[in-house]
Amino acid sequence: MKVKRVTPDESPFTPVDKAPEPELGTGIIAKERYTSAEFMQQEWDQMWSKVWLMAGREDDIPEPGDYIACEMGREPVLVVRQQDGSVRAFYNVCQHRGNQLRDTGIGNADSFMCAYHHWDFHLDGTIKDIPDLETFPQGAPCSGLTELPCDVWGSWVWYSLDPDVEPLRDYLNVIPQHLDPYNFDKMVMTRDLTVVWECNWKAAVDAFNETYHVQGIHPQLLWHLNDQDVQIDCYDKHSRYMVPFGTLSPRVNQRPPEIPAGIKEMMIEAGMDPADYDGRVLDIRLDIQKFMRENGESQGKDFSRLNDDQLTDDYHYFIFPNITMNIHATSVMLFRQRPHETDPNKMYFDIQTYVLPGKDDEVPERPEHATYNFGDKSCGLVIDQDAHNLPGVQKGMNSKGYRGLWLSDQELRIRHFHKTIDDYIYGPGKKPSGAL
Ligand code: FES
Ligand SMILES: [Fe+2]
Repeated sequence: MKVKRVTPDESPFTPVDKAPEPELGTGIIAKERYTSAEFMQQEWDQMWSKVWLMAGREDDIPEPGDYIACEMGREPVLVVRQQDGSVRAFYNVCQHRGNQLRDTGIGNADSFMCAYHHWDFHLDGTIKDIPDLETFPQGAPCSGLTELPCDVWGSWVWYSLDPDVEPLRDYLNVIPQHLDPYNFDKMVMTRDLTVVWECNWKAAVDAFNETYHVQGIHPQLLWHLNDQDVQIDCYDKHSRYMVPFGTLSPRVNQRPPEIPAGIKEMMIEAGMDPADYDGRVLDIRLDIQKFMRENGESQGKDFSRLNDDQLTDDYHYFIFPNITMNIHATSVMLFRQRPHETDPNKMYFDIQTYVLPGKDDEVPERPEHATYNFGDKSCGLVIDQDAHNLPGVQKGMNSKGYRGLWLSDQELRIRHFHKTIDDYIYGPGKKPSGAL
């Protein structure tokens, strides 16, 4: 059964029209882009230091002095709520002898005093105090902490390492128009993890930007979603696909003996009782949509700006270069891939999950952030399946027996991702022939 995608009205809704297909050719993508230290450095110089990056959740820093200390590659960054309610970002580095001011994490401060010699900085980054200032014949440095562009969208705080970066809204392009209809600001975080993975950061981006691997790595999902009726849209830098959930893959050619577990879970989450359902499995997706439409309001959930498909399906967005969002009407699973400081064969995989609580639901407490190495702990079956695969991918990419990525139409977003990286590294449409 093909999904007919319709935008209910115009602008307040997420557009569902198919974007024009980009002309990206069929060439092989050089494997060295995933393995070479030189390419990693090019990415850092030309791409990571030019884009907008997600620092964290805005509601983690509601009060003046609340801060998020985060890291991108070798750069420590401090995002601070100001007295006037605005948010500003600085390098998390003392201007005296370069000590990092705060460890990674969230916290609150009246000022940022450096632990080494007690130089002290106001919340706005200006110098508050320098002990024994008279012993510096040159006086105090004229500026305080080095500031970075900072803005808020979608209830997340963003920053850029480029002082001349374009405004965040311009950078995000279609994203706010597409995703503002969701209730991100009303969602609460339920999971906050970082796992060290033994692969290049792009291998982990790729692993979530195609559904071709579902039949290989996640066979159980064939009983839960349609991996083949997937609309792919590539925009300026970003991309999306829309995957029907609550249905069966066309690859399943048998009648399920009972409602498959994943679909049952969706019904329960919506407030339905699967034991009462006497329709066909293939009708459940639309029946969940109908049920949520009829009952959302009484559950205290606002679906008024979502189309029916959004009540069941995964509207899966990739915000270049490293944010993947599996978006459903009442939940978001967000991935952030960060490169390792020095090693192209390693990365940090951040996982955050959010839910939209109903009016009678207990609001879960914000979880403590946890970091661990791959294999220490399960991240849930689906992510574990992806995670187990990736070290083997990275090993194979380093082999002399492998040349590069040989991509299908189903993997168009991966090709588009590489083209966007090229546009940063070489200039838009200027990649020299023979370059990686
Ligand atoms: S390095 Fe910070 S006060 Fe000396
Ligand atoms: Fe996967």
